Amino acid sequence: MLVLGVESSCDETAAAVVEDGRRVLSSVVASQHDLHEEYAGVVPELASRAHVERILPVIREALAQAGVGLGSIDAIAVGHRPGLIGSLLIGVAAAKALAWSLGKPLIGVDHVHAHLYAGVLGAWDEEPLAPQRRQINHADTIFPAIGLVISGGHSSIYSLEGWSKLRRLGATIDDALGEAYDKAAAILGVPYPGGPNLDRLADSGGGDDRAFDFPVSRLAPDSLDFSFSGLKTSLLYAVRGQPIRGGGFERDASALTEARRADLAASFQRAACRAVVLKLARACERLRETDAPPRTLLVGGGVSANSRLRRELGAFARENRLELRLPPMAFCVDNAAMIAGLGAMLLQAGLVADLTLSAVPTTAC
Ligand code: KG4
Ligand code: ZN
Repeated sequence: MLVLGVESSCDETAAAVVEDGRRVLSSVVASQHDLHEEYAGVVPELASRAHVERILPVIREALAQAGVGLGSIDAIAVGHRPGLIGSLLIGVAAAKALAWSLGKPLIGVDHVHAHLYAGVLGAWDEEPLAPQRRQINHADTIFPAIGLVISGGHSSIYSLEGWSKLRRLGATIDDALGEAYDKAAAILGVPYPGGPNLDRLADSGGGDDRAFDFPVSRLAPDSLDFSFSGLKTSLLYAVRGQPIRGGGFERDASALTEARRADLAASFQRAACRAVVLKLARACERLRETDAPPRTLLVGGGVSANSRLRRELGAFARENRLELRLPPMAFCVDNAAMIAGLGAMLLQAGLVADLTLSAVPTTAC
């Protein structure tokens, strides 16, 4: 079964062809980073216009790379929530037009839930499935699961009993982790793209990760929510000193030596990773007390590319006897393969949309 996935929720225009929900035949991502770089953030109107220009060439390229024509596609899956409304509308309109004109099922996919599917894509054989195994039901090897989505817009923990049966246990009450990374990079004067560059400086810049004792937010003793704004503010004060009366800070960032910058980056990364692992440990403990203890840890979103976090999640999963599904680098950030893959699971569960499917700025849960 071939599913064409379409993704346009933020600033990447993407399309992919995935076979049997697992085997990625193509995954094309047209990034708009160069368009938004000078504004230091995504400009929604520019993003929608770029999606309009790129969506059809990107879909054509995904089909060409997969070596299939539209006639061989069995269903169209589209990320229809959450995201920038103008951006989402372009992908949804394109997917609806294709589904209607081809007479194929249309599947609406939640982008945040699809990030949880990305680690499953990477974990399967590259070989095509034998015809008798085409019923793509791997639920028995994955669920119950704990899910962690850490991206530029979301930081959430889920309990999953199936691909369409998931419950959010906690979410950030202020900044998403990727957002905190990007802001920390700006504070440290680390160039764009902030998150990956800060990771590199922290991990291989020779800094001491214990040089600064940055706060690890715990919130209430049983809370599974995240908070990263305190960490970000502590970093700001460590770089610029205290705020002074009348505005501004005691010093500017130019006083920062390279050695101190590396210490700050490493200490920030240590605190950020500790906060994530702490909340995962709480979630794991809570779910172990239920009659469906988790067997798998599903992780996705841009920050799952973080080098230290990948190591720490590996250690956490081993200690807690969880099978870790961590996406390969290409599927950590926004892509359409995760949309097509999860779309195949939803199709199998009969969760097909019709042409009233709309773009929705918020997540389902
Ligand atoms: O999932 P994604 O592509 O977009 C959203 O749906 O938000 O995530 C992008 C975020 C950005 O904030 C980026 O800085 C962060 O992921 N990111 C990283 C790393 N790679 C990407 N943050 C920390 N370390 C990285 N290696
Ligand atoms: Zn995303």
